[in-house]
Amino acid sequence: MQNPIGIFDSGVGGTSIWKELHALMPNESTIYLADSKNAPYGEKSEEEILQLSIKNTELLLEKECKLIIVACNTATTNAINYLRANYKVPFIGIEPAIKPAALQTKTKKVGVLATKGTLSSDLFYNTSKLYASGIEVYEQEGSGLVELIESGLHNSKEIKHLLHKFLNPMLNKGIDCLVLGCTHYPYLIPALNEVLPNHIKIIDSGLAVAQQTKAVLEKSKLLNLDLNLHPNHTFYSNTNPEVLRQFISLDSATIYYLDF
Ligand code: DGL
Repeated sequence: MQNPIGIFDSGVGGTSIWKELHALMPNESTIYLADSKNAPYGEKSEEEILQLSIKNTELLLEKECKLIIVACNTATTNAINYLRANYKVPFIGIEPAIKPAALQTKTKKVGVLATKGTLSSDLFYNTSKLYASGIEVYEQEGSGLVELIESGLHNSKEIKHLLHKFLNPMLNKGIDCLVLGCTHYPYLIPALNEVLPNHIKIIDSGLAVAQQTKAVLEKSKLLNLDLNLHPNHTFYSNTNPEVLRQFISLDSATIYYLDF
């Protein structure tokens, strides 16, 4: 099926997922919504996050998307159950990768950096309970990080200052794995490599989301099988599209302002 895959996030963060998806399935068309006007979602109430997720979903469905990736941990943990129950297309979500971290840690201590909205959600609580028994999980809200990344300051002094402040306490506790529980945070990896000791493993779920999307498309017989068709990649931002452009390294992508 040639219809596009729809992706949304509170801003530019979900482009970290889009990159994995495009690398794995270059033949698929995509439509990306960066709801930067409403970032950060992580500081909003569950009801507000749900309403924003519904708004984004309905716009992607108007544009005839065959599957929707909720490329935002905050929206997934607060809204994906509702979306799956109320719309017919398949939804793929992203949650902090507690399970892989629990399997890889040797010190039995892992850190999770995520938004307030993710860490306070029932879904996150249940996932941690299910997969992290016998493991100490140190949770830290990344307040302020998304705003700096949205401003293109992902390798700035301010970011490194915040990362030291947020991560030192869990490093002192002896974590050996750090879960990036927000799709904006892979853009912090260069700064994290400066701030973290070498033995700390950074765990993020971007590739797993792309692989899961492929598996669901295959199973639902929704893959684009017409290899002669050139895929289109359209990105919409409801703030400044030039900021979004800095996060997408694909010349053929079209990037527009849209008031949504
Ligand atoms: N990229 C987001 C996430 O994965 C949302 C960050 C925010 O808007 O607070 O949680």
